[in-house]
Amino acid sequence: MATPLDFLDFVDTNKDRFIQRLAQAVEIPSVSGDPAHRHDVFRMASFLESQLKQYGVETKLVDLGTHTMEGESLKLPPAVLGRIGDDKSKKTILIYGHFDVQPAQLSDGWDFPPFQLTRDEKTGRLYGRGSSDDKGPVLGWVNVLDAHHTLKKPLPVNIRFCFEGMEETGSEGLDEFILAEVKKGKDSWFDGVDAVCISDNYWLNTRTPALTYGLRGISYYKVVVSGPARDLHSGVFGRMVHEPMTDLIALMSKLVDPKGNILIPGVDEMVPPPDEEERKLYRNLDYTLEDVEVSAGAKITLSDDKASILMGRMRSPSLSLHGIEGAFYGAGGKTVIPAKVAGKFSIRLVPPQTPGNVDPLVIKYLQDEFAKLGSKNTINVENMHGGKPWVEDYKHWSYEAAHRATEAVYNQAPDYTREGGSIPVTLTFAEALGVNVLLLPMGRGDDGAHSTNEKLDTSNFIQGTKLLGSYLYEVGAGKKA
Ligand code: BES
Ligand code: MN
Ligand code: MN
Repeated sequence: MATPLDFLDFVDTNKDRFIQRLAQAVEIPSVSGDPAHRHDVFRMASFLESQLKQYGVETKLVDLGTHTMEGESLKLPPAVLGRIGDDKSKKTILIYGHFDVQPAQLSDGWDFPPFQLTRDEKTGRLYGRGSSDDKGPVLGWVNVLDAHHTLKKPLPVNIRFCFEGMEETGSEGLDEFILAEVKKGKDSWFDGVDAVCISDNYWLNTRTPALTYGLRGISYYKVVVSGPARDLHSGVFGRMVHEPMTDLIALMSKLVDPKGNILIPGVDEMVPPPDEEERKLYRNLDYTLEDVEVSAGAKITLSDDKASILMGRMRSPSLSLHGIEGAFYGAGGKTVIPAKVAGKFSIRLVPPQTPGNVDPLVIKYLQDEFAKLGSKNTINVENMHGGKPWVEDYKHWSYEAAHRATEAVYNQAPDYTREGGSIPVTLTFAEALGVNVLLLPMGRGDDGAHSTNEKLDTSNFIQGTKLLGSYLYEVGAGKKA
């Protein structure tokens, strides 16, 4: 089914208003990982709910309970549910997105205030935290609703929405809610869903649209080494006592080598190597070393071989060291021995790895390696959060619809990609609902999600809105089984 022209025209004509709405959303600093911003995540939930309501969507805020963060008990932001359409002759699509964002401060090195949308007239870029991850795409769906409501056009499918405000910190509370909801059967909010569509990822490069059928899982760890009862003077205690930081550095240096190999026995080995056919898949993607260099901002690729680089991101596990808490003592040359330090790292997982089968290997290895140090300090390994990897069958009507929509909007076929990042709820939806999940990205590979100067190109916002709408039309064109 061709996407109606009046919808496409509406999107073009209302570009400035759509950008205005994105600006409103970016101005709410809904950082889920910072207790000081928790109320902003709640504000963002209300903003989103009122946007949906305004366009005729029945909504519900789901209380997900409380959790502890940095020793503080906090209310979790609600999930924002929505439903519109109950036509038995139409397909029903469940749309997921998240309205929380990563932290950002001007002092991190931003060229613009992160919580103000800055529009660069020359390049058309829209800078601001959340512009691409994930407020732009979430508002893309709102734009589609806006168009249909204003034009008084019926939507081509029934839609259910599930938006969350804790994605960036491990989707706390959401899995439990989904599983409990699905158990309600006919009374479930998700009853009758035929497929799930998520727009929370990016093209591989800056030229070619993509459809994404895989995500890595994640397991996030914190190793705490403590010893002295308080911080000590290194002139007084140096070489007299076991120093926590020294132990921690020794441990962290044994997790991964500079080539990216994971040194924890059994972890890399769990993943079967690719066969020739799979390698070819990666060689054929529209991607070059230069694409990595542009998005990373430096020539630092682990290899000169495009297929190995892509496999590193898409089909191999990776271990990254994120930081050491308690270790930074200001800009001066303070001569202290920190009493307690916590090293943070995570492993991105691919099938058949899961937090369940990887965590025990990690914890045992750290304990064994710590024992070898012969230190009188103590360690404690905490597992902060985790999510399983997900790989989908892309020979499915939902992917076919997205493929046709992409060709219609962009005049080119999409790349089929697996992604290195994680969206823990993806697999939960796939398993709990037993339906196909599609990732349909809006932004480009150089958007800089989580980084400084995160942006979304105006053309991606506008064409992306058309893409999301066209996808629904292509789905609607398929016969309901
Ligand atoms: N949108 C990303 C997921 C993503 C990242 C998709 C890269 C495609 C490429 C999402 O918002 C995200 O950042 N997820 C976290 C999840 C974690 C906190 C459990 C991630 O991947 O670090
Ligand atoms: Mn995201
Ligand atoms: Mn993110």
